[in-house]
This record gives sequence, structure tokens and C-alpha cells, in this order.
Amino acid sequence: MSSPTLAPDPHTHHWDSVYAARDEQALTWHQDVPRPSLDLITARITPGDPVIDVGGGTSRLVDALLDRGFGPVTVLDLSAKALARSRARLGARADAVAWIAADVTRWRPKRRHALWHDRAVFHFLTDDADRAAYLNRLDTALAAHGDVVLSTFAEDGPERCSGLPVARYNPETLSAMIERHLPGKLRLLSSQHHDHITPKGRIQRFQTSVLTRNHS
Ligand SMILES: C[S@@+](CC[C@H](N)C(=O)[O-])C[C@H]1O[C@@H](n2cnc3c(N)ncnc32)[C@H](O)[C@@H]1O
Repeated sequence: MSSPTLAPDPHTHHWDSVYAARDEQALTWHQDVPRPSLDLITARITPGDPVIDVGGGTSRLVDALLDRGFGPVTVLDLSAKALARSRARLGARADAVAWIAADVTRWRPKRRHALWHDRAVFHFLTDDADRAAYLNRLDTALAAHGDVVLSTFAEDGPERCSGLPVARYNPETLSAMIERHLPGKLRLLSSQHHDHITPKGRIQRFQTSVLTRNHS
């Protein structure tokens, strides 16, 4: 008797469908050059430092880091379809990357990273239990002297993305949220607002915060 095939959970199905339906250039969040994340990350790490791009999707951040000699790089995403696209784009260079198809809120980290990057993923967590689970994984996966670059829609950014509601932040509300779940563990180093221009020319306001581990 054959075993039943498990259907993907609705969340994974949603993101796989988004990636199946649209080319990279048609994704509202697409960037040819992943700024400001790239500049913020490369200012804080050196080659050899493990970096993770959480919810990396088809982002070209991994390409840009490898181009500059950074890594090892891990890309984690719910959507195996998105990861397959990035692997195909990178060709043989994909073998240098660790690819993890997982829900960050359920993932069990196996190593620590010098830098945790997230652009436009945390803001989809509108349930406090999911935010707690995400931040628990971040705490487990971040090295003792690790840094976090976390980019979300700003307070005056869009209320939805890809058909889903989002939680919007400014750097202070974001770090207060993190402090509530991980008291005393991280502190805000710097932040910036920036406008992302979608492929259709719409402006989306983002905030990007850089946080670091607290040391007592
Ligand atoms: C708006 S896209 C941003 C992609 C990428 N960070 C970028 O800047 O191009 C959000 C990404 O988060 C992924 N995602 C959403 N919820 C997730 C979760 N709970 N765990 C892991 N990935 C998730 C989606 O599959 C999608 O690739």
C-alpha cells in the first residue's frame, strides 16, 4: 500500500503559488541590487563569517555576497520553488550555499550565524505566538557576537503584501517588540528608512534596523 502524499500547509502553498505565477521581475519586492541590506551586512561581517538570509526567496543578496567573497551563506525560505529558482540562477555557485526549505517559526537551527538578515519576512507575522517562535529561532541561530539586519514595512508602508496582512514598524516599535520577547538580549545599533520602488513604479516605505547582541 502506498503512503499518502501530504499536502503542503496553506502558508507554503501560498508562497509556492506566488513564485510559480510570477517572474522575478514581477515580484513587488524584487531588487536587482539588494540595497540597503548589502551595505549594512558587508559593513559588519568579514569573509568566513556565517550569514543567514531568512525568507530569502529569490533575492539576489546571496549572489552579491558570494561575488564579494563573503560566506558561508545559508538561505532559508518556506518556498522550495523560490529556492530552486535561486539555485538555478547561481548555477555551480549554488553548491557553496546551504539551502533550507522551512518555516522559520518551526525550524530547528543547527548552527550559529554571525549575521541574521531578514527583508520583508518578519512583518508577515501578525500573531504574537509566531513572532515569539521566530525570535526564539533567531536567538538560537545567532552567534554570541552576532548582528541582525531586519527590514520591514515602515509605519507608513503598505498594509498588505502579496495578499497577506502585515505588521508595520518603526525602529523603536520593532526593538520594543524584540525586547518583549527576548528581554535584554539585543540592542538597536542603527536604523534607516528607505523607499523601495516596485517594478510597477509604486513606492513602498521600509525601515531597516541593525541590532546586536547585548553583553553583560
Ligand atoms: C516579500 S518576500 C521577500 C523575499 C526576500 N527576502 C527579498 O527581499 O527579496 C517574503 C518571503 O518570505 C518567505 N516566507 C514567508 N513566511 C515565511 C516563514 N514563516 N518562514 C520562512 N519563509 C517565509 C516567502 O516564501 C517569501 O520568499
